[in-house]
Amino acid sequence: MEIYQALEGRRSVRKYVSPATDEQLDRILKAAALAPSPFNRQAWDVVVVKNPDLIDQIAEIKYQLNLGLSRKATDKTKAQAQRQKDAFNNASLLVVYQRERNNDREIRYDAGGGWLLMGNILIAAMAEGLGSRIISFWDEAEEKVDRLLKVPAERKQISAVNIGVPDPSEVIEPRKLKPAEKWIHFEQFP
Ligand SMILES: Cc1cc2nc3c(=O)[nH]c(=O)nc-3n(C[C@H](O)[C@H](O)[C@H](O)COP(=O)(O)O)c2cc1C
Repeated sequence: MEIYQALEGRRSVRKYVSPATDEQLDRILKAAALAPSPFNRQAWDVVVVKNPDLIDQIAEIKYQLNLGLSRKATDKTKAQAQRQKDAFNNASLLVVYQRERNNDREIRYDAGGGWLLMGNILIAAMAEGLGSRIISFWDEAEEKVDRLLKVPAERKQISAVNIGVPDPSEVIEPRKLKPAEKWIHFEQFP
């Protein structure tokens, strides 16, 4: 697939009919490992979560996390949180970590490497004809996920991602892009 076409076609998918196969995950992870990283440190770890019980527990953590985003649990916020949870169904789950360091610069740039690895995962998923969506956890929810995955203390969660065969019945609204003149500046900020 042409790279510009892949970038144009990538959307966050929140409804899946089946997860990635082992062979697909293997190719996606090999492509992920080609990402640039500071001093080629490759300070990342990826946990491939296949155990349905673990996936259900992580999906529930995401549900509760997003429900808590609004002060009132209205039908709309419940439906939004449910959509976040349902996206775990029939999908593969990967959680990306970085090695913790005690130097701010290294932490910042290792996170950059981890995000570039994540970018490669999204594009490689496209190359496999699969959809993906990033999943964020923070605070207590992040800690709960780490405990479930038995993450060593010196690892920091970057983000998680679902990958799978998109359900064609999902309606994905056209993306709204910020006009170029609002974010591209020449020579200096205006
Ligand atoms: C750092 C980051 C965190 C995100 N967290 C979530 C998330 O927790 N749940 C989710 O459904 N999508 C999440 N997304 C996906 C964004 O909502 C999505 O990329 C954005 O709305 C643009 O839509 P598109 O990916 O279809 O182009 C996240 C994306 C990024 C880059």
